[in-house]
Amino acid sequence: MNPLRATRALISGGASGIGLAIAEALASQGVELILASRRQGLLEQEAARLGARYRVRVLPLVLDVSDGDQVRAQHAQARALLGPIDLLVNNSGVGSDYLVQDLPESEWDRVMDTCAKGSFLLTRACLPDMLANRHGTIINIASQAARHGYARASVYCAAKFAVLGFAKALREEVQHQGIRVHTLCPGLVQVPPPACPGDRKPGWLQVEDLAEAVLYTLRQGAHVQLDEIGMTGI
Ligand SMILES: NC(=O)c1ccc[n+]([C@@H]2O[C@H](COP(=O)([O-])OP(=O)(O)OC[C@H]3O[C@@H](n4cnc5c(N)ncnc54)[C@H](OP(=O)(O)O)[C@@H]3O)[C@@H](O)[C@H]2O)c1
Repeated sequence: MNPLRATRALISGGASGIGLAIAEALASQGVELILASRRQGLLEQEAARLGARYRVRVLPLVLDVSDGDQVRAQHAQARALLGPIDLLVNNSGVGSDYLVQDLPESEWDRVMDTCAKGSFLLTRACLPDMLANRHGTIINIASQAARHGYARASVYCAAKFAVLGFAKALREEVQHQGIRVHTLCPGLVQVPPPACPGDRKPGWLQVEDLAEAVLYTLRQGAHVQLDEIGMTGI
């Protein structure tokens, strides 16, 4: 096992933005990857690029995290091809921009199902192997919106508060069985990343900052529980 205490990671939303930066950092450390989201072409492109660059196995996995049947079937397929997953990064998410009085019910469902239900479904799929092996890490990419309320972001805040609450309860269930649960709560992150350092927005985090935080959590001793990690740019 490498010093990260992870050998095979499933990253939802791993072909773009923060998820891709996390994937890149893990691949650079020799971790095998499963990149899971809906856009097949993008998944295949990034999986091929990372696999060639870092010489690790990278599997593109097309799934909608909000669909329980797809999550179950695609997780089983990935497991059959690569083996059990010992690191799950729940990163898939979508934003929303409505006043509450204008918020469509369908939008509430879309955001809650992607951010909150998606994290639950992937966690439920990955947990049996982690429990059987008494080894695993689950990292949730929440948000400062899991801690604070923001106007025009009610459903996003509700979904991210849900991710944080779910993670806290999960940790109570599994922390004595070799499984660690960490949640990152970043503020604004510049996505897509700037083409050059000069284009960085002041006060915003960069995707590499999130990737570095993931590596940091994975480098902790097995007895260390980091709970939630707040991050904001200055
Ligand atoms: N950027 C920020 O300022 C910021 C701040 C705090 C937290 N976050 C959180 O960070 C995470 C990553 O966001 P990002 O900023 O990197 O934006 P992004 O590039 O748009 O990433 C979102 C990812 O989620 C995937 N996704 C969306 N719906 C999905 C579904 N139903 N099933 C599977 N995958 C789905 C997308 O892939 P497909 O479209 O291919 O499915 C995409 O790869 C999100 O959870 C977001 O809430 C972002």
